[in-house]
Amino acid sequence: MRGVTVWFTGLPSAGKTTIAETLAQRLRGEGGRVEVLDGDAIRESLSKGLGYSRQDRETQILRVGFVADLLARNGVTVLAPLVSPYAAARDEVRRLHAKSGTPFLEVHVATPVEVCAERDVKGLYAAQRSGEISGLTGVDDPYEPPAAPEVRLETQRRTLSDSVYTVYVELVKRGLA
Ligand SMILES: Nc1ncnc2c1ncn2[C@@H]1O[C@H](COP(=O)(O)OP(=O)(O)OP(=O)(O)O)[C@@H](O)[C@H]1O
Ligand SMILES: [Mg+2]
Repeated sequence: MRGVTVWFTGLPSAGKTTIAETLAQRLRGEGGRVEVLDGDAIRESLSKGLGYSRQDRETQILRVGFVADLLARNGVTVLAPLVSPYAAARDEVRRLHAKSGTPFLEVHVATPVEVCAERDVKGLYAAQRSGEISGLTGVDDPYEPPAAPEVRLETQRRTLSDSVYTVYVELVKRGLA
């Protein structure tokens, strides 16, 4: 099977990790070689020490993109859920894949900020409101939505399994699942 990188971008609590992990289970059940490069996990290892400044966020995106390309060009299905707020950095990752001839799909998990703030899985939105933290993507830090993602998921209007299936179908269409 050819490898691919599926890049999930969106606001905190949008559903990136949940959708990617559920898709990973499905693909593994079918015998696929799948690696999930979750932004949070990478920040505890490869990107330990990076913060949330513009420069650090950019570095995080490019590092994950680099590893994703390495794995995907060697036949792994890489699912990369990370906020990745900057369009230019995501485009650089796309170019890296194009250069190595590796398929790349950008999935915009386009959950509105109000819905994300209600879900607030990690309590970040509440912490921002109380002044405990600042620089929260989509609230007081920029989020640049992709102009032409391969897939856009409006999770406030879709079930989890519908979102997972939509991405799965895009992979099947391209002969990547
Ligand atoms: N239709 C849906 N699709 C995906 N997730 C949903 C949906 N409806 C509710 N949820 C819930 O929304 C939450 C999304 O959290 P998740 O950790 O996946 O977000 P995230 O985008 O990875 O955030 P972060 O950037 O902070 O890691 C989960 O608790 C999930 O169960
Ligand atoms: Mg996540």
